[in-house]
Amino acid sequence: MHFSKEDFGTDFKWGVSTAAYQIEGAHDLDGKGQSIWDSFSQKKRNISNGDNGNIACNFYHQYDSDIALIKQLNIPNYRFSISWSRIIPNGVGEVNSKGIEYYQKVIDTCLALGIEPWVTLYHWDLPEALHKKGGWTNREVLNWFSDYVHCCIKYFGDRVKHWMVLNEPMVFTGAGYFLGVHAPGKVGLSNFLAATHHATMCQAEGGRILRSYNKGFKIGTTFSYSDIAPLRELHEKDARAAVKVDALLNRLFLEPLLGMGYPLRDLKILQKIERFMLAGDEQKLAFEMDFIGLQNYTREKVRYAPLMPFMQAKIVIANKRKVPHTLMNWEVYPTSIYNALKRLQSYPSIKEILVTENGAAFEDHVIDNEVNDTERLNYLQEHIAQVLKAQNEGVNVKGYFVWTLMDNFEWAEGFHPRFGLIHIDFATQKRTIKSSGKWYSQLLTK
Ligand code: NOJ
Repeated sequence: MHFSKEDFGTDFKWGVSTAAYQIEGAHDLDGKGQSIWDSFSQKKRNISNGDNGNIACNFYHQYDSDIALIKQLNIPNYRFSISWSRIIPNGVGEVNSKGIEYYQKVIDTCLALGIEPWVTLYHWDLPEALHKKGGWTNREVLNWFSDYVHCCIKYFGDRVKHWMVLNEPMVFTGAGYFLGVHAPGKVGLSNFLAATHHATMCQAEGGRILRSYNKGFKIGTTFSYSDIAPLRELHEKDARAAVKVDALLNRLFLEPLLGMGYPLRDLKILQKIERFMLAGDEQKLAFEMDFIGLQNYTREKVRYAPLMPFMQAKIVIANKRKVPHTLMNWEVYPTSIYNALKRLQSYPSIKEILVTENGAAFEDHVIDNEVNDTERLNYLQEHIAQVLKAQNEGVNVKGYFVWTLMDNFEWAEGFHPRFGLIHIDFATQKRTIKSSGKWYSQLLTK
């Protein structure tokens, strides 16, 4: 390892990230309403091994000892999300006081231990009641979401300073409304483009609402962002295919936020989004965030695929390319995070970048109470080194959050892919700090 935390500057935010549905459990307790992930994962065929998040890491009951573990690891910043249906069971209307109290306790526990809470407002668990009315495909979601943001500010805004509006909108719209492999399992271009436009509107509106309350809030939103390259170098059709995939996966939600509109020129099919746009929407898509959250795990290689509908492009997954990869079949390619940072920095209107997620799933083994996760450790070290390299070259990157604190419910993949710094035995809920967790802790302690 060739770096220390001092190399990144004293104002650099080191942290760890989680999300409500992936860790909390208590899916129907204390007045919580159902979310789309509750209903989606009850249908066994939707999730690998028939897993669901009913119990997950039982964080709902163990938050105090788990936050104490964050403290023990000396991690100063904790990013987590609020479950919308835990605080507003039907998505709109009546507030669930037990849900509010729970998050106030989580936040207060952090603050009492000197851990800064970073709240994501929406990490994919839309209330089921809103889904029944069309969810993200219904323009009404703009009002539902605004009310929800106001509610979060009302109850948590006195103690939370750092906010992120959405988590990876491309993933929840693409996987949830186009491919149907994530909740709510909808498919098709029309659902996808409607959800996309409404989420992009909410992304900016959420920022505006937060800003209107408190000028001191630090406001951001997060994006999945991978380095994307043509499979065959200097192959013109692959290069064109890569531009399209990049427009879809990396630019679709980011550029309208930056006032550039949707990347319609590089992916013509997106022009159909215009039928969901009303007069004046274009301006409302833009908002000046204090920071952009980069969530990077891998790079994608793209080849021209004439038969692929809409895109004529295909991502060639890592094992087919015979390159080192994680349990998610994502290539291990640390330069990807460097390239992503450089690329984000090239947008003049991005003020500051934080890596709000980076991490890896590998097979772990508990032996004598130890988990020697060398591959994850190397992955983290190599990626953090690339962040430093980018920073040294002038990229304004001001934070790094590991995905994730502890092994948890990895959406459609269930509990099999483990990303945690802390191992969880899901049968007993026993926590074991992995070697990667000990190393991260040392980095932050020195
Ligand atoms: C992105 C998502 O925000 C998070 O929920 C997920 O677990 C990780 N990446 C790993 O796939």
